[in-house]
Amino acid sequence: MGAAMATVLPSATSGAGFKPHTMPFAPVAADIAEADRIFDRTLAPYKSPFGALIEHLRHYRGKRLRPALLLLTAKACGKLTVTHHTLAAAVEMIHTATLVHDDVLDEAELRRHIPTVNAGWGNKVSILLGDMLFTHAFHLTSTVDGRACNIIGEATNRVCAGELRQVTERGNLELTESDYFAIIDGKTAALTECCGRLGALDSGASEEVATKLANFGRNLGLAFQIADDLLDLVGNEELAGKTLGTDLEQQKLTLPVIHSLHRLPATESAQLRNSIRTGGEGVGLRVLHALEKTQSLAYAKRKAEEFARAARQELDCLQRSDCRTILESLTEWSVRREK
Ligand code: IPE
Ligand code: IPE
Ligand code: MG
Ligand code: MG
Repeated sequence: MGAAMATVLPSATSGAGFKPHTMPFAPVAADIAEADRIFDRTLAPYKSPFGALIEHLRHYRGKRLRPALLLLTAKACGKLTVTHHTLAAAVEMIHTATLVHDDVLDEAELRRHIPTVNAGWGNKVSILLGDMLFTHAFHLTSTVDGRACNIIGEATNRVCAGELRQVTERGNLELTESDYFAIIDGKTAALTECCGRLGALDSGASEEVATKLANFGRNLGLAFQIADDLLDLVGNEELAGKTLGTDLEQQKLTLPVIHSLHRLPATESAQLRNSIRTGGEGVGLRVLHALEKTQSLAYAKRKAEEFARAARQELDCLQRSDCRTILESLTEWSVRREK
């Protein structure tokens, strides 16, 4: 697009995705606000050369799930410090970077209820903005300590490898469940796992508890991404606030479709693969019929519920508190969410 579209991008009031009352983060709401301030302060020096772009990012707010996971975990362990605020800003920055790049890969036009960066400024700007968010996240983390840098670095390596694997598997209509789980374990669960581990860092938690909280984050991330892949097939774009249906369009097989292809009789399975490969009108409906026939949406939901239950069990290591209760409720929400 270029400058012309930048001038018609929606304002903060029309699109801000984060509505505090819709996410139950009350005990750490002030901490999330502080992480937001760190995020904004980090990008403030770029206002002068890239005013509209930086302004767009200020309205480009999501649910803050990752900062919330990190901060709720820290508080549930007993000690939330200023270091956690910086780390919460850094993980949200990494998450935002992955989304800016992901929307280029998926050719998506809507994110967080407003136009994607690629819809507004094009792919080149999106690549460089994503890179800048990654580098600032690491620079921010370097102001904390080596352990945090190492944890975030390792998680981001896994996220990038997961996204890369997904792209290289595009069009592979023989993708297996185990390939799928390896992809989502990287692209999504690595970062939520990292949030659990960083929350536990210097919060008074033992190494054993930190590992359980990392496992909590990982299982939650797996449940969350399976639910996201269900939304991509049968969700409501207005509620989700992002472009849906891109997985099939991009020939990225997700759990329900993989399950269906394996359950259908061989000839029907081959026809469906052919249909997905060719694309065009009617493919969505054909896939939906197949999913219905093989009960694959229910299968994927059951899998997500299994991960959500596993996540919840890991929280037994924490003493009872408001924050623990919210973390528990997030495990259920991660499966039944609509956005
Ligand atoms: C979107 O994550 C990317 C996935 C891992 C599915 P979120 O749904 O947490 O995105 P925002 O931050 O709220 O926009
Ligand atoms: C991407 O997965 C998740 C990342 C880690 C970037 P999706 O492509 O399913 O995410 P959405 O649906 O665009 O948010
Ligand atoms: Mg996407
Ligand atoms: Mg998706």
